[in-house]
Amino acid sequence: EIVILPDGAAVGAAAAARIAAVVQRKPEAVLGLATGSSPLGAYAALADLVARGEVDLSRTSAFALDEYVGVPPESPLSYAATIAHDATGPLGLDPARVRTPDGNAADLEAACSAYEAAIAAAGGVDVQLLGIGANGHIGFNEPTSSFASRTRIKTLAPRTREDNARFFGGDLDAVPMHCITQGLGTILDARQLLLVAQGESKAAAVAAAVEGPLTAMVPGSALQLHRTAVVLLDEAAASKLT
Ligand code: F6R
Repeated sequence: EIVILPDGAAVGAAAAARIAAVVQRKPEAVLGLATGSSPLGAYAALADLVARGEVDLSRTSAFALDEYVGVPPESPLSYAATIAHDATGPLGLDPARVRTPDGNAADLEAACSAYEAAIAAAGGVDVQLLGIGANGHIGFNEPTSSFASRTRIKTLAPRTREDNARFFGGDLDAVPMHCITQGLGTILDARQLLLVAQGESKAAAVAAAVEGPLTAMVPGSALQLHRTAVVLLDEAAASKLT
């Protein structure tokens, strides 16, 4: 399902309404969270619904998509800290039930397996919020990622490191080389996918993911395999759809 909305605020409101609907049906729902700029409008709109008493997220659990390797969780640049700041606090989530992959584990592969096991033990993700990278990645599944991939260590693509340098004061050398990300197979296991994209810089990736062939070169095209994938776009992000 592709929904084209007038602007980013409408995208955020629509995503929030869909997540709220899942939690209203199932108060102990498992949420899949994304970091970056794309989901911020959804978190803000969802925080408004929480503040107005229209939905209560305090009994949900949440799993982030990804984390940098080697950035300590107390650093504001870690995705653990970003999720705490952007989502856990404003949405009234229980911090004890919000997880990010452990990018500082002594045994990173064991941390990846533990993350998969934790998602499974929670009963799987009910609704997964996603952004999309300009190179078509979802999570940090960079081009060439297998559609069957599970949570694993990945090397960030040069384009992704350039795009994310803005969070590191513009210093490309400060951007980590590696991350842990849920795999495309992990993401596809969620019961509903909700991809949000705003702005012209995402238009080509959105068109390739939604209208192009299924290909590992455009990891977002994996959404075409899902029964309940909703793509919420502003007009700029939709501008290259046919
Ligand atoms: C973030 C993530 C990434 C971002 C993507 C878009 O957890 O997994 O796939 O969603 O890089 O980033 P923004 O939203 O900052 O443009």
